[in-house]
Amino acid sequence: MTNNAFAATVLTLYPEMFPGPIGLSLAGSALKSGLWSLKTLDIRDYATDKHRSVDDSPSGGGAGMVLRPDVVGLSIQAVLAKASSLPFLVMTPRGKPLTQSRVKALAAGSGVNILCGRFEGFDERLFEHYPLEPVSVGDYVLSGGEPAALVLLDAIVRLLPGVMGKSASAEDESFEGYLLEYPHYTRPREWEGRMIPEILHSGDHAKIAAWRQQKAEEHTRLWRPDLWEHYLASKIRKSPSGTQ
Ligand code: ADE
Repeated sequence: MTNNAFAATVLTLYPEMFPGPIGLSLAGSALKSGLWSLKTLDIRDYATDKHRSVDDSPSGGGAGMVLRPDVVGLSIQAVLAKASSLPFLVMTPRGKPLTQSRVKALAAGSGVNILCGRFEGFDERLFEHYPLEPVSVGDYVLSGGEPAALVLLDAIVRLLPGVMGKSASAEDESFEGYLLEYPHYTRPREWEGRMIPEILHSGDHAKIAAWRQQKAEEHTRLWRPDLWEHYLASKIRKSPSGTQ
C-alpha cells in the first residue's frame, strides 16, 4: 500500500461481511494493488462484561435492542486515537441521504471512518458526544449498516485516482448536473426486432451529443421528477438572464 492511499476503517459487529463484494472487480483489484486500504474493528471487542454484550433493551420500553453508548463509545475512541481528522460517518436510515457530491468530496479526502449499527439503533448520546455524520443510503430499512457501508465504499473507491480505466466515464454519468445518464447501445445492430437508433451510426458527433442530451433530459423528466426540478433550477441559475 502507498502511504497516501485512501484509508477506510469500519466499526461493525460483523467484520466478516468485509470486504465482501468490494473485494472483487474494480474495487477489489484496487484494494489488492494498494490504491485504498480497508480495516475493520469488531465492536464486540470493546464489550466489558463476561457475556461481551453490546446492546440492551430500550429505556422507556418497546421492541428491539439498542446499542450501548459505553461499548460503542470505546470502539469509536479506539478509531479516533488513530484517525481523528477523517470524516466519521454512521450508517443509519435516520441519516442525511447520500449523494454523488458527498461521495466525490469523501473520495477527494484521505479516508473515512464508518460506524455500522444493528438492532433498533444507537443510544442517542453517542451522536451528541462524538462528531458523527449520520448517513442513509435510501428511504428503506436494511437489517444493518454494513450493506450501506459497502454501498458507500463502492461509490467512493471507483472515484479514486487510478481505479477506473477511463476517468471520462466518471464525469459523463448520472447525477452530474442533476441529469440521469443517456441510454447506451452496442452490437448487434438488431436485437429481438429492435434497432439501435440510426443517429448513433451517423458519425455526426455534434448531433449524437445533442440526441444524448435530449434523451437524458427525457428520462430524467419521466423517471426522476425530483432531479428534473433541480436540473431546471440549476439551468435558470446558470443562464445570465435567469430566463433559460
Ligand atoms: N441501516 C439500516 N438501514 C439503512 C439505510 N437505509 N441507510 C444506511 N444505513 C442503514
